[in-house]
Amino acid sequence: MNSIPANRRLWNRISRAYQQEHDPHIGAAPRLWGMYALPDAQLHAMGEVTGRRVLELGCGAGQWSRALAAEGATVVGLDLSEAQLAAAAEAMGTVRHPLVQGAAEQLPFAADSFDLVFCDFGGLSWAPPHLAVPEAARVLGPGGRLVFNVASPWFEACYDEAAARVTTTLRQDYFGLDTIAEGDGATSYQLTYGDWVRVLRGAGLVIDDLIEPRPGPGTPNGYNETDPPDWAHRWPAELLWVTHKP
Ligand SMILES: C[S@@+](CC[C@H](N)C(=O)[O-])C[C@H]1O[C@@H](n2cnc3c(N)ncnc32)[C@H](O)[C@@H]1O
Repeated sequence: MNSIPANRRLWNRISRAYQQEHDPHIGAAPRLWGMYALPDAQLHAMGEVTGRRVLELGCGAGQWSRALAAEGATVVGLDLSEAQLAAAAEAMGTVRHPLVQGAAEQLPFAADSFDLVFCDFGGLSWAPPHLAVPEAARVLGPGGRLVFNVASPWFEACYDEAAARVTTTLRQDYFGLDTIAEGDGATSYQLTYGDWVRVLRGAGLVIDDLIEPRPGPGTPNGYNETDPPDWAHRWPAELLWVTHKP
């Protein structure tokens, strides 16, 4: 399915309110992952980036891209939404890097353009993974890494639409989470564990790690209410994949 037009419209519409609500949390410090803003220094997913060619897929307001550019990476931030890219451009300081409007499922880059492709609830949550993962693999050079964080199937399956919170009751079928309607035709994507493995391996990538970020019991979720509040301390809310192209 082609979710590009609807996803662009959604993010253009919500960008300002989204950044007002979430930017302070996402950008509170460099290199914070996911809904619980866990430091990469704790998760050890990203590694050294100085001197590397880096692409952020679905960079939003560019909090991650700016942090890696400041460390000396040659960063490109790609996003579908011009409103999100405008937020990224506005937030850039003296260290400037290119911003490109495009879709994770149709990357406008040649093969072997990057040493690291990554995202945090970006293009691999908002583009069909069976298209976006091969595209990421194509633009990586040999030895390049694809690192990305997405919601876990546990989290999605336990989401209670009516109450707008995550509980301890399974609500959605695990087999069938594939597309999640986000309103007005916009779509996000989710795979089973097995399908992620097959899509990654099918694109020729080697899986180095599957990190399951575990916040401390009192760590707030910046996006969703959970019941119990320490839900993600007890069950995995996110999947942080670490892979490379041989
Ligand atoms: C949740 S934000 C991720 C950015 C940042 N890490 C954050 O948490 O705000 C999702 C981003 O993905 C972008 N996006 C949606 N669909 C996309 C697609 N098909 N390709 C690239 N980016 C896309 C949206 O415009 C949005 O900026």
